[in-house]
Amino acid sequence: MHAQAERAPTPPKQGLPMTDERTTTHRTAASQRPSSGTSQPGEGQVDPALRPRSLREMIGQERLRDKIQILVEAARQRGDALDHVLLYGPPGLGKTTLSHILAYEMGANLKVTAGPAIEKAGDLAAILTNLRKGDILFIDEIHRLGRAVEEILYPAMEDFSLNIVVGSGPGARNIQLSLPRFTVVGATTRLALMTSPLRARFGVVERFDFYEPAAIQEIVARAAQLLGTQVESAGAWAIAQRARGTPRVALRLLRRLRDYAQVRAQGVVSAAVAREALGLLEIDELGLDDLDRRVLDAIIVKFGGGPVGLETIAASISEEADTIMDVVEPYLLQLGFLDRTPRGRVATRPAYAHLSLPYPERAEQSGLFG
Ligand SMILES: Nc1ncnc2c1ncn2[C@@H]1O[C@H](COP(=O)(O)OP(=O)(O)OP(=O)(O)O)[C@@H](O)[C@H]1O
Ligand SMILES: [Mg+2]
Repeated sequence: MHAQAERAPTPPKQGLPMTDERTTTHRTAASQRPSSGTSQPGEGQVDPALRPRSLREMIGQERLRDKIQILVEAARQRGDALDHVLLYGPPGLGKTTLSHILAYEMGANLKVTAGPAIEKAGDLAAILTNLRKGDILFIDEIHRLGRAVEEILYPAMEDFSLNIVVGSGPGARNIQLSLPRFTVVGATTRLALMTSPLRARFGVVERFDFYEPAAIQEIVARAAQLLGTQVESAGAWAIAQRARGTPRVALRLLRRLRDYAQVRAQGVVSAAVAREALGLLEIDELGLDDLDRRVLDAIIVKFGGGPVGLETIAASISEEADTIMDVVEPYLLQLGFLDRTPRGRVATRPAYAHLSLPYPERAEQSGLFG
């Protein structure tokens, strides 16, 4: 099924455009549109056009947007580079998008790279020495930077200095270079995996929350307009309710519904058409798809409701633990269908109800007191 095939590749990310320097540069002067840095599999070519360019175009995340607005304006007024910004939260909520927006708003040059792409300290040194004043270095999946690479990053972020060792053995020399004032924008879905010294280097640490359905509805309406697809507002609402509070999911559903409407309904996505098409995609009224249901089903049926470890769940349904942790779990936790206990994951009463399974009273006790 579509949704699942497209979700699987969350970690590790592929399709990151890389140059010799392991970065891509985007000129994001106001006259030009930033292009997509990481192209997620399944997002298709329409995606860069749908990506909001400026803070004004960004829908939802009001709290975050306000804070970023102040940050940007203050830096602009002072003629300073932005403070280092760390963005975290589940996939598809707009971390990469916001990094492009930051560059756009600051009129800055954006260099895009990712933790796994910077293998050696020298790779990072090469990137850093190519930065110019005010540049933004976007490091996606920043929790996957190696230790040696991180050590280079600390003084670079803190004092804008680069310490490198040249040569080896007794003749080795320590060289210190000064760097222009630049900004690191880091993104991660796993804040917990970041080392605390690295976290401490960021002046701004912001979390993305799931979007409200009303915001998703607006995102769908805007995207439909850009795509030239006719989506009735009730149709956009139907998508919004099943998009897991996630713009990426909403846009993916929109594209599937557009196909469906084109073939079956004269191109118009009404509420009824949306429901039919979402049913065909096996996405239920809460936005759960086949993978979500298999995870819940495994916990409840195979492991008596839990507690059960993530790796065990993953193995039992032949899926990657990372995919479950990044993509499936955050939304199930948000719905209150899962509890995380020290001994593992536990399915809650609403999860049983959603799958129409009887809730064993014993499960609650072993979950709470076991
Ligand atoms: N506020 C928003 N308004 C409209 N569209 C948005 C918004 N936020 C994100 N999107 C769209 O959602 C998609 C996913 O966003 P993005 O790639 O920035 O997510 P991400 O947080 O970087 O995900 P990942 O962790 O997988 O890298 C993009 O296609 C983008 O156009
Ligand atoms: Mg991203």
